[in-house]
Amino acid sequence: MTTVGVHPDAEAAARAAAEAIGAALGEAREQRGAAHLALAGGSTPRRAYELLASELSDWDGIEIWFGDERAVGPDDPESNYRLARETLVEAGGPAISQVHRIEGERGAEAAASAYADLLAERLPATEDGIPILDLALQGLGPDGHTASLFPGNPALEASGVCVPVHDAPKPPPDRITLTFAALRAARRLIFLVTGASKAEPVAALLDSDPSIPAGRLAGSAELICDAAAAPDRG
Ligand code: 6PG
Repeated sequence: MTTVGVHPDAEAAARAAAEAIGAALGEAREQRGAAHLALAGGSTPRRAYELLASELSDWDGIEIWFGDERAVGPDDPESNYRLARETLVEAGGPAISQVHRIEGERGAEAAASAYADLLAERLPATEDGIPILDLALQGLGPDGHTASLFPGNPALEASGVCVPVHDAPKPPPDRITLTFAALRAARRLIFLVTGASKAEPVAALLDSDPSIPAGRLAGSAELICDAAAAPDRG
């Protein structure tokens, strides 16, 4: 873990995340003319996305991606795309046309394959052909999962960039996720974590504990959390 920012409460953590993401996108666009951000799903980032909308005076050249998606359509309450639309887009951020949706309604296999192709088409890549995101925002589950990389799931060992997930313990069971390789290739990886229920996985994350999926990304990642999620380090 490169940096850890502990904030008094979830609102302050959301604000810190929005500011960090906005600054990173502005810097990337300045340097390369475009910026690519992958969003986390779940409930934690909702407030950060609302705040992020006003962190840039314009969203030209910014493209929005997803670290994972449920195998559902865009209007499903479980859709991470719907979360982004209802917050970041509707709060005045990027246009919906700048948001690259994972087409979960096609089923996990077809959606993952199509998304990997789209990433390859639009992003610069490493020598190994892995698309390079400018920033990937990650959540953290109570079991230490991140994106839809769940403990013991075959997706943890998958090669490639974007893969289907089945039997996820967090409903819905069928999902699509970026792989470890794709997440590690991001120029910046920020975990946004709040709430006392995450204190245990946060402690494992800070220890880069490989027994949890998020621990396998900790090396070059940054953590923004609230005091409730921060382990009491004595
Ligand atoms: C998802 C997320 C998942 C999420 C964590 C934390 O699609 O479910 O990508 O990885 O970030 O489960 O979820 P909460 O923020 O709701 O606690």
